[in-house]
Amino acid sequence: MKGIILAGGSGTRLYPITIAVSKQLLPVYDKPMIYYPLSVLMLAGIREILFITTPHDQASFKKLLGDGSELGCNFDYAIQDEPNGLAEAFIIGKEFIGHDKVALVLGDNIFYGNGFGSLLRSKINLKGASIFAYPVKDPQRYGVVEFNNDNKAISIEEKPEKPKSRYAVPGLYFYDNKVVEYAKNVQPSARGEKEISALNQMYLDDGALEVGVMTRGMSWFDTGTVESLDDATEFIRVIQNRQSAMIGCIEEVAYQRGFIERSTLIELSGKYGKSKYGEYLKELAKSI
Ligand code: DAU
Repeated sequence: MKGIILAGGSGTRLYPITIAVSKQLLPVYDKPMIYYPLSVLMLAGIREILFITTPHDQASFKKLLGDGSELGCNFDYAIQDEPNGLAEAFIIGKEFIGHDKVALVLGDNIFYGNGFGSLLRSKINLKGASIFAYPVKDPQRYGVVEFNNDNKAISIEEKPEKPKSRYAVPGLYFYDNKVVEYAKNVQPSARGEKEISALNQMYLDDGALEVGVMTRGMSWFDTGTVESLDDATEFIRVIQNRQSAMIGCIEEVAYQRGFIERSTLIELSGKYGKSKYGEYLKELAKSI
């Protein structure tokens, strides 16, 4: 399975913070936001990853992440000229996806929870498509899944004024190779975007969409507004400091998943200077 991280968009809801800097490079506590969704794909065992960015931000992402080889991965980069919608990821990523399955994670989504790694790895051999549903207070901000009395998903609507349930769809999606064909048929919505919800509805109409409800043990943040960005930062700070373990540490995940050797982990810890992040990696390398 390949992975795509969508890290374009205009970030206007965070202006003036994002006028000169990509939203997905902003700090969420002690690391750039993009580390979190990247660690999610790596945790799933995915090593071939495409970063889709705006034309002007691509150089910064390359500077931060390189070609992925030091993490035992292969990183590719592509440009989305305009924020035409999430489903465009599969049109831009067509060559990269080839004949494989693909996972998409949004560059501004953060996940944390018990058993998340094995949940992710259970999706690698999927048929059709697999998405999640997460209960929220403000479903009208998201894609919303409606369930029938048998808990079967029956509709998916993007930012409905009158949501049919409180279940939002987080920005983490798994698809078989048909997604490349389906994405071509997504027409722009009233707000002019090729919506991922339209794509998911196509799989649902085909009887090929699995919707897994994320329970209380999982935490999900989308950091699209100043408040939610601040909430995510606070959450990461509190959990990390209490548990003395990092969330979204890409080198740690690379080591855990067997992408790199211990000697590489030690080498990589040198890259982060005297920062707490670098110290954490040094301690980690000593303890294993
Ligand atoms: O966070 C989950 C939600 O993400 C889902 O529930 C919705 O169904 C989905 O449409 C999306 O809604 P948002 O309103 O949060 O999407 P936003 O425009 O904020 O874009 C999400 C990320 O994708 C953000 O990091 C910017 C990036 N993006 C967005 C668009 C529209 C792109 O890279 N290209 C784009 O064309």
